[in-house]
Amino acid sequence: MSKYYELSPSILSADFSCLGEQVQAIEKAGAGWVHIDVMDGQFVPPVSYGDVVVRCLRPGSGLFFDVHMMVTEPDRYIADYKAAGADMFTVHAEACTHLDRTLQAIRESGMKAGVALNPATPLSVLDYVLDKVDMILLMSVNPGYGGQKFIPSTLQKLQDLTAKLEAAGYADIAIEVDGGVNASTIDAVLDAGADVIVAGSAVFKGDIEKNVQELQAHISRKAK
Ligand code: DX5
Ligand code: ZN
Repeated sequence: MSKYYELSPSILSADFSCLGEQVQAIEKAGAGWVHIDVMDGQFVPPVSYGDVVVRCLRPGSGLFFDVHMMVTEPDRYIADYKAAGADMFTVHAEACTHLDRTLQAIRESGMKAGVALNPATPLSVLDYVLDKVDMILLMSVNPGYGGQKFIPSTLQKLQDLTAKLEAAGYADIAIEVDGGVNASTIDAVLDAGADVIVAGSAVFKGDIEKNVQELQAHISRKAK
């Protein structure tokens, strides 16, 4: 996957009574991706939503659908999300008994394959699967809820991951950061090596268009 900067607004903080309009608003404001958080009540305490939401949003949106599976043994759902119109299917390393097999199955489905790591999970779990990964998602909060505070040790982890990918010849793998990113924390996250920035509450609380444009302005300054 070629690297580029993207903002991926997380609909977890959206108003679900008018979800379609809110997703259109982020697209109109200039976002290229939308981040869709799936929670099963087992890997993380809450239950969020599933492939039916992806299926309903797909016809009205040209955004890249970035699905974050906070779900135990997510390989059970690969075919459903592909059929619903997902573009990226990111699984947690902690939630997969057979991570290598799961990543192969995601790519075989035609979706891009992502691996997510919780804040306390070491980067070494990635060592033998880099050839099967399009994106690595570093959690900068513990997964399960929007609106949490950014965990500062993520910045060192991001720098370590950037160096690791370069040393291993996989600098083309995208790095996504998820949790607690807002106008105050985004610059440090970009400087530490992130390519794809997830933002939930920082986009959907208040004026969506203005929020997207403000975060995009930080990204554009970095891209120069
Ligand atoms: C948390 C989710 C995030 C969440 C981010 O478990 O994976 O995507 O929506 O929300 P904010 O940006 O508000 O931290
Ligand atoms: Zn997420």
